[in-house]
Amino acid sequence: MKIDELRSKYIEFFTGKNHKQISGKSLIPENDPTVLFTTAGMHPLVPYLLGEDHPAGKRLVNFQKCIRTGDIDAVGDSSHLTFFEMLGNWSLGDYFKKEAITMSYEFLTSSEWLGFAPEQLSVTVFKGDDSVPADNESAEIWRSVGIPDDRIYFLPREDNWWGPAGKTGPCGPDTEMFIDTGKEPCGRDCRPGCSCGKYFEIWNDVFMEYEKKEDGSYIPLKRKNVDTGMGIERTAAMLQGKSSVYDTEYFAELIKGIEKLSGTHYGADDTQDASIRIITDHVRTSVFILGDEQGLKPSNLGQGYILRRLIRRAVRHGRKLGIEGFFLKYLAEIVVAQYKGVYPELQKNREFILSELDMEEERFSQTLKKGEKEFSKMLPNLLKSKNPVIPGRIAFKLYDTYGFPYELTEELAAESGLGMDKAGFEKAFAKHQELSKQGADKTFKGGLADHSEATTALHTATHLLHKALRTVLGDHVQQKGSNITVDRLRFDFTHPEKMTPEQIKEVEDLVNKQIEADLPVTMEVMALEDAKKAGALAFFGDKYDEKVKVYSIGEFSKEVCGGPHVKRTGTMGHFRIKKEQSSSAGVRRIRAVLEHS
Ligand code: ALA
Repeated sequence: MKIDELRSKYIEFFTGKNHKQISGKSLIPENDPTVLFTTAGMHPLVPYLLGEDHPAGKRLVNFQKCIRTGDIDAVGDSSHLTFFEMLGNWSLGDYFKKEAITMSYEFLTSSEWLGFAPEQLSVTVFKGDDSVPADNESAEIWRSVGIPDDRIYFLPREDNWWGPAGKTGPCGPDTEMFIDTGKEPCGRDCRPGCSCGKYFEIWNDVFMEYEKKEDGSYIPLKRKNVDTGMGIERTAAMLQGKSSVYDTEYFAELIKGIEKLSGTHYGADDTQDASIRIITDHVRTSVFILGDEQGLKPSNLGQGYILRRLIRRAVRHGRKLGIEGFFLKYLAEIVVAQYKGVYPELQKNREFILSELDMEEERFSQTLKKGEKEFSKMLPNLLKSKNPVIPGRIAFKLYDTYGFPYELTEELAAESGLGMDKAGFEKAFAKHQELSKQGADKTFKGGLADHSEATTALHTATHLLHKALRTVLGDHVQQKGSNITVDRLRFDFTHPEKMTPEQIKEVEDLVNKQIEADLPVTMEVMALEDAKKAGALAFFGDKYDEKVKVYSIGEFSKEVCGGPHVKRTGTMGHFRIKKEQSSSAGVRRIRAVLEHS
């Protein structure tokens, strides 16, 4: 079964079980400072998993673009990917373990659906520990559908528990489904979760049934949710009888492209194969980031830095394979053609994707050779030294002068058997400019983002600011992005010029007037068309479902949004704009805070 068919079948199966299909969201999460990219289908659904009602109901299904950058450096082996698609179905206080597991089993094994042989399936369940008992209920359900005891594995918390990301919040045991590839076990302890490749994880059903409290105890939740995630590429590989995601059709096509460009043959040499997989993965991920409607470009910060790392690493591995000319564009075209039917944003942003890739490739190609030359010149001496590491100042020079992301130098060093003086690099970097915390790659720990009072109030303040900007500057103002931490909000919007001090003051005053008026914040669910007719603002970078939630702040603001928000504006604090600056051409960026006297 091909990837496209698998995606459609999943949606068809769950809509047939009364799930409503909702759209996948942007790869760049809005208002979540804990993570740079959307890492799971549940991620955009966090407010609903925390108890907000979803406008589409209690049973949901979708497919979602995801990026996990935690192990970029592991890409190159036959299983790791940075970009992947996740299929998910959810129950928000509706069905629980029995139905979730029974449906998973049916979808996996019925000949009408995926048709895996039941004997190929192994599952894991939570083993229990001092705080929470074993998930015998899930094990019993698996037994009842026909999985024998010797294919039900009880594993500890590190394997079979999901969330919360912070100290407190909803969480619970999960049950993971593995396909036995038929390979010989690598040893006596070989079991699902073992990395030898015998067991291939394809699906995870999470049962959010506990709330973790401040004191570390777990109490049962009143409203229990199910959150599931199936990796499309991994499942497709199993359906196609392949042992690697890179052997599935979309990857195979890209690999052919690289073979053509480089004259190499995939499968002939391990080092070359790793380079081919790195290029394949990184080009795909870069295309999806650039195509994501947010206009994100390579930079030295946050998501832009990840994008830069991916592109530059792909370019270096291209050169390693002997590809001389610019090649990213050629491969990017293949990705756009493969996915444009399902992700029309790729076609819409095709020009942008191709030109950004081209420019970044050009920027880096100019310095890559020189940097590598500089590196090889130093190599003999470094290798002779007692402590063969790349000194921090040299890693910094490669970064600063030749545009080598730190991690690329680290990879270059490892290839020559050298370590890195990371502390030294950071010192040199910090001396040069304040080390940006955002540049560090944070990974989503699996769980629910911060919904503290402070971030909720800043979220409401963002709506007030959006409306105030439109009132003061004009209706051309449109939200381009938003990011909230507990300390501040950041808001990007279209406006052609710098705001004057008077305009900034006027916006602040207008926002503070709404706060002082202690306006009620109310929410209504309505059809997207009606919301637009009612004059609700929407963040145009996002995709919306048929039914949306509209938050109104008194009569002042009306905006399509998932929430959460404060109930009344009165206690939010005093709104102050700390900075107004350019973000990119035609886009301004405001940082603002809520102060409490
Ligand atoms: N959120 C769960 C996962 O990503 C389903 O595995």
